[in-house]
Amino acid sequence: MNLTVIDHPLARHYITVLRNQETRPEEFRAAARSLTYTLILEATARLPLREHNVQTPLEVTRGWSIGDVVAIAVLRAGLGMLDAALDLMPNVKVGFAGVQRDEETAMPQEYYSKFPNLEKASVLVLEPMLATGGSLSWAVGKAKESGAKDITALCVVTAPEGVKHMYNEHPDVRIVAATHDRELNDKAYILPGLGDMGDRLFGTLG
Ligand code: URA
Repeated sequence: MNLTVIDHPLARHYITVLRNQETRPEEFRAAARSLTYTLILEATARLPLREHNVQTPLEVTRGWSIGDVVAIAVLRAGLGMLDAALDLMPNVKVGFAGVQRDEETAMPQEYYSKFPNLEKASVLVLEPMLATGGSLSWAVGKAKESGAKDITALCVVTAPEGVKHMYNEHPDVRIVAATHDRELNDKAYILPGLGDMGDRLFGTLG
């Protein structure tokens, strides 16, 4: 399994805030952003670097810059992770993958996608809830069609079904998650999970 579950006190703290049904959308958004910092630190630990000299006020020394990074937000819940990527890597380029489930067939259906050039980039796909894996697998497939070769998926919560689906369809893609949960219920929500991530981020719970 190409899954890394990060074990960090801050990640445990923020996943607990996200799980709590009393957490209001503004706190939920802040916690999602903070948690995503921890995921990005793990996901980028082996990012390629360009080496070059840098002039300090005193002398020249060795320095490094990160190469091309593209963050792809899977709409709409992936938007809750995007600000963290932009905070840590201000020159990141951003793609969007809009997919919804066809209610008849339960298959992923595209409604919007736009990617920058992915050929030489380290690609981070932001998909907070890896439930059945259909949306992430679809987004990764689209990214590969656009030339992506180095892909890491960042997830807040994963379920065994989604990880298995990804391993079957995209064994080359690394998944970095804050927690690996127990199972899906009959509506494909993750248990114990945190509910509907998009609704909780954007206050559309009814
Ligand atoms: N999407 C969500 O937002 N939550 C789940 O539990 C599963 C999919």
